[in-house]
Amino acid sequence: MHDIVAKVRSQETLSADYRCLVIEAPAIARAAQPGQFVHLRVSGLETSALRRPFSIYRAEGDLLFLLYKTVGRGTEQLNRLRAGDTFALMGPLGNGFPLDTGGRTPILVAGGYGVAPLAFLASRIPARGLVLIGGRTAADILCEDDFTARGWEVRTATLDGSRGENGLVTLPLDNWLAAHPASPAVFFACGPYGMLRAVAERAASVLAPGWVSLDKHMVCGVGACLACVQRMRRPDGATWIARVCRDGPVFPAAEVVWEEPK
Ligand SMILES: Cc1cc2nc3c(=O)[nH]c(=O)nc-3n(C[C@H](O)[C@H](O)[C@H](O)COP(=O)(O)OP(=O)(O)OC[C@H]3O[C@@H](n4cnc5c(N)ncnc54)[C@H](O)[C@@H]3O)c2cc1C
Ligand code: FES
Repeated sequence: MHDIVAKVRSQETLSADYRCLVIEAPAIARAAQPGQFVHLRVSGLETSALRRPFSIYRAEGDLLFLLYKTVGRGTEQLNRLRAGDTFALMGPLGNGFPLDTGGRTPILVAGGYGVAPLAFLASRIPARGLVLIGGRTAADILCEDDFTARGWEVRTATLDGSRGENGLVTLPLDNWLAAHPASPAVFFACGPYGMLRAVAERAASVLAPGWVSLDKHMVCGVGACLACVQRMRRPDGATWIARVCRDGPVFPAAEVVWEEPK
């Protein structure tokens, strides 16, 4: 893990609320693995929780790419960053996705900004397979070209029907599973909690392995504060409390003890 002062190379608007921040961070970029994240100190926040976690979207040479959605004060501050600005950056943090699919077809399932670590995964994993991207509207469907340019098949779904199938991203997932009942698959998912849970249920139903990247509110980012706990169950049945920042954010889907929807 490196704790550095990073410099902004550029910032680009991708769609309505989404931006891509390109950062000069050689040590972190060279060590980054798909599924890992960085913890970024956002200037201009007066609260004690100054850092915000973001998945690594791409790492090329000395450059690190983050894809983020503007949702609050911290991400609004990120919007203001310009080429040459500097900020404190810790990473790469956490454990990423496995890259060996064991001969199974990789099925990547993304919701909103959850597409970021999966695009990085698709660039590093040797196998090719299917990518399912879901969002509320067409503006939430990002990075399709990242996948298609590398030979992945992409299907999309939006809640308002403005792009792809009309409904949840589990709709094209269920269609694929129905059309390929005998195809051994492995699932990789990043997105809202309910979506991860639904993917974990699909993986269990077809006896396939699955990996989910959990999105929990974080404070320290390094396992010290217990802000990001998640109950887990080992294959032997023993339960334990994981710190998503340090033990994850990627976990075997079958080992997450899913909370009931509120
Ligand atoms: C491991 C990890 C990887 C992440 N990767 C990305 C990424 O690649 N791109 C991206 O855009 N975001 C990512 N996030 C979420 C991102 O950290 C939050 O959106 C960000 O911290 C919000 O900061 P803010 O100050 O703008 O919002 P705040 O003012 O803190 O909150 C604004 C709203 O966003 C909600 N929110 C805050 N944090 C989270 C969170 N962790 N998950 C869901 N909702 C949250 C709040 O409940 C509130 O409704 C990731 C989170 C984790 C834990
Ligand atoms: S954020 Fe502090 S333990 Fe995970």
